[in-house]
Amino acid sequence: MKQSLLEKKYRFENPFKVDPLVRKAVHYLNGGGRLLDVGCGEGADSAFFAKEGHQVTAIDKNDEYLKRFRAYRNDQKLSNISILRRDVITYRYPRNTYDVISCILVICCMKRSEFERILGLLKRSIKPGGIVVMSARNYLDPEMNDYQSTEKMIEPNTFRKKEDCCRFVYFVEKNRLREVFADFDILYYFEGFAPCKYGEHPKHGDSYIICRRTK
Ligand SMILES: C[S@@+](CC[C@H](N)C(=O)[O-])C[C@H]1O[C@@H](n2cnc3c(N)ncnc32)[C@H](O)[C@@H]1O
Repeated sequence: MKQSLLEKKYRFENPFKVDPLVRKAVHYLNGGGRLLDVGCGEGADSAFFAKEGHQVTAIDKNDEYLKRFRAYRNDQKLSNISILRRDVITYRYPRNTYDVISCILVICCMKRSEFERILGLLKRSIKPGGIVVMSARNYLDPEMNDYQSTEKMIEPNTFRKKEDCCRFVYFVEKNRLREVFADFDILYYFEGFAPCKYGEHPKHGDSYIICRRTK
């Protein structure tokens, strides 16, 4: 089905497109195994991973997003996707379970301290040898200047979100993702400006990492 028709049929709020980092990550994956999509949104990445042969668990707290994603999943008969309404901060991440954890543009939707809290849980939930794929808005993002000049910083680099579906916005610091995954093998790292995949801004400051748990 054509992209525009697909988006109209399911009333997707965002373009139903696979994230560029997810496309890149596929080169490091063996096309199978259990995958957790943390903050799956409307499900474009989860659907892509499922079509690549992964057994996908997709979690998000937004009911509307999940409703649209379920309709799509059912129509596409993607029986290898399990969609759960969960808070990613309180989710009971099972130990040594997933071959892949994908967390795209989600840690920037929480407080810095919440990211710290779930980081260890994510790292323990991936199997040894498993891959983490993560992206976030960072300190270079033009929006960070707006927030700094108009909003109170409630934690380092963290503000209450002005609009949108999430309550907070956290702009990750320089080298942050590289540092927090220093005990993993870093397979790919990027920090800089990138186009906005939602087409809402000319550019974003982004940090991307693909890394492997070694032990
Ligand atoms: C910017 S969107 C990214 C969605 C998707 N990963 C993508 O790349 O298009 C952030 C997503 O994280 C979800 N999210 C943010 N905080 C969450 C939380 N505490 N628990 C569950 N989902 C959360 C939002 O509902 C939203 O779907």
